[in-house]
Amino acid sequence: MKMLVSLLLLLALSNAAKINGEESDGQCDYKLTLDPRPHSVSILEFGAVGDGKTLNTIAFRNAIFYLKSFADKGGAQLYVPPGRWLTGSFNLTSHLTLFLEKGAVILGSQDPSHWEVVEPLPSYGRGIDLPGGRYRSLINGYMLHDVVITGDNGTIDGQGSAWWDWYSNHSLNYSRPHLVEFVASEYVVVSNLTFLNAPAYNIHPVYCSYVHVQNVSVSACPYSPHTVGIVPDSSDYVCIEDCIIDIGYDAISLKSGWDEYGIAYGRPTTNVHIRRVHLKSYSGASLAFGSEMSGGISDVHVEQVHLYNSFSGIEFRTTNGRGGYIKRIIISDVEMENIYMAFAASGDCGSHPDDNYDPNALPVMAHITLQDVIGTNITIAGNLTGIHESPFTSVCLFNVSLSIISGSPTSWVCSNVSGFSESVYPEPCPDLECSYSNSSSACFSLPELNGKSAVI
Ligand SMILES: *[C@@H]1O[C@H](CO)[C@@H](O)[C@H](O)[C@H]1NC(C)=O
Ligand SMILES: *[C@@H]1O[C@H](CO)[C@@H](O)[C@H](O)[C@H]1NC(C)=O
Ligand SMILES: *[C@@H]1O[C@H](CO)[C@@H](O)[C@H](O)[C@H]1NC(C)=O
Ligand SMILES: *[C@@H]1O[C@H](CO)[C@@H](O)[C@H](O)[C@H]1NC(C)=O
Ligand SMILES: *[C@@H]1O[C@H](CO)[C@@H](O)[C@H](O)[C@H]1NC(C)=O
Ligand SMILES: *[C@@H]1O[C@H](CO)[C@@H](O)[C@H](O)[C@H]1NC(C)=O
Ligand SMILES: *[C@@H]1O[C@H](CO)[C@@H](O)[C@H](O)[C@H]1NC(C)=O
Ligand SMILES: *[C@@H]1O[C@H](CO)[C@@H](O)[C@H](O)[C@H]1NC(C)=O
Ligand SMILES: *[C@@H]1O[C@H](CO)[C@@H](O)[C@H](O)[C@H]1NC(C)=O
Ligand SMILES: *[C@@H]1O[C@H](CO)[C@@H](O)[C@H](O)[C@H]1NC(C)=O
Ligand SMILES: *[C@@H]1O[C@H](CO)[C@@H](O)[C@H](O)[C@H]1NC(C)=O
Repeated sequence: MKMLVSLLLLLALSNAAKINGEESDGQCDYKLTLDPRPHSVSILEFGAVGDGKTLNTIAFRNAIFYLKSFADKGGAQLYVPPGRWLTGSFNLTSHLTLFLEKGAVILGSQDPSHWEVVEPLPSYGRGIDLPGGRYRSLINGYMLHDVVITGDNGTIDGQGSAWWDWYSNHSLNYSRPHLVEFVASEYVVVSNLTFLNAPAYNIHPVYCSYVHVQNVSVSACPYSPHTVGIVPDSSDYVCIEDCIIDIGYDAISLKSGWDEYGIAYGRPTTNVHIRRVHLKSYSGASLAFGSEMSGGISDVHVEQVHLYNSFSGIEFRTTNGRGGYIKRIIISDVEMENIYMAFAASGDCGSHPDDNYDPNALPVMAHITLQDVIGTNITIAGNLTGIHESPFTSVCLFNVSLSIISGSPTSWVCSNVSGFSESVYPEPCPDLECSYSNSSSACFSLPELNGKSAVI
């Protein structure tokens, strides 16, 4: 009887990610079934101590090593009870659920010697902060399948302040680590958790497919330098929904590699759906595309977003040397409040990984539609500055109403950009000609996006 009860308890506690694509009309509409995992162990069974001081890296590594043997037996759960579990970086395994109970906090060590140093990502060629290697992320997945990180609002706290200081005072030896990184993995779920004070990025899926981030809250100190919330990078079939992000730099940033490295790797970020998110960025953008976009970014649908108290709202960034493209993007149902610049598209944004980039590798930006936007307390409506040799085209704005503060220096700035607009206030620049007859064929629309998704 006792065995039966504990078996039922295990069944209730643990689950596996299965994303069923049959009903897809967008990346969030996969039926996400979290099947129970048949086995579960607690990190306590591996000698972990949740006092916030004892280093538990070996306990996490040993627990995961043990749970590897259940991969072909339906998978397993690693349960983290309430407590403060200090650790260095560790790897996950396939068919695993990492479950953080209410009151459980995984704390990243502030001692760099607890973090392995690894090669840069091939699509970047170097670390993001510095040339050369980078610290491995706190929680890693490499070539995995079916992994869930979830909980009852457990917390992953990167204790990033030391890393921010080292970054700011130029004493880092390698690029800063992220909190959770999945590389070349598929069927990944991150849900029902709080992320705090990441050294750099919080959630970074790179070269991944079928990634679902749901109901997570992410925050870091506003002054934290270049901290980013969620970064879908050279990944496809990504859904981000019901999240609240309050961060130093970009809240959500879509990327796909850097200059010659990203062009050579050639893996786009595509088929991304973002909805019902509240985004705040102190010094960057609530929602950013690029500037690293050399593998291309396309087929992105963003809807029902609330962007507030941010430097910029929606920003597209690229520069000569990037190659690649940002295209087939539709963003609708946007509420903006207290934002310095509502929209920005910039063709001279971001640095190069080294001197070997090809200045003639021109990025393409086209088929971008922004519609149904209401903004209050905006300082500048938009700065759309394209590239002379490769102007931004078919940038379309429909039903956009921004209340601009009095004394604003200018409302719209445009150059080397073309497109259409309709019902936009304040009146956009003439580059976005107002046309009722021609816009429908030139502008990217939801039926086009979904028409394509349905074929896949
Ligand atoms: C973590 O995974 C990486 C990539 O597979 C591997 O190189 C590294 O040795 C692993 N680290 C540990 C502690 O298992
Ligand atoms: C979101 O997560 C919290 C715990 O972090 C949970 O209480 C709540 O029910 C979740 N909401 C949804 C919609 O999953
Ligand atoms: C989740 O935890 C964070 C900090 O650990 C707390 O601030 C927040 O209120 C909690 N959210 C819910 C829904 O319980
Ligand atoms: C940089 O910041 C770290 C952490 O606060 C501090 O220990 C170190 O002394 C600083 N280094 C310099 C050169 O200011
Ligand atoms: C960088 O390396 C130097 C020399 O090994 C070391 O003294 C310093 O503590 C390191 N800095 C960090 C932030 O790890
Ligand atoms: C999040 O938590 C809620 C409430 O416990 C649960 O119903 C839901 O299935 C969880 N979602 C995921 C994706 O884990
Ligand atoms: C308007 O937005 C700016 C940020 O762009 C902010 O500093 C200011 O406090 C906001 N004003 C009001 C009245 O909310
Ligand atoms: C607009 O953006 C361009 C390119 O990023 C920049 O050079 C210019 O200063 C910006 N103009 C304003 C008014 O912000
Ligand atoms: C314009 O956008 C607002 C939301 O920003 C929406 O409520 C309204 O229905 C839209 N109007 C049209 C004609 O689509
Ligand atoms: C395009 O940009 C160049 C500078 O990069 C500028 O000289 C030129 O006037 C711009 N063309 C248009 C049509 O805005
Ligand atoms: C519509 O497009 C056609 C062909 O591209 C062009 O000749 C015509 O002037 C355009 N009409 C308007 C109102 O922009």
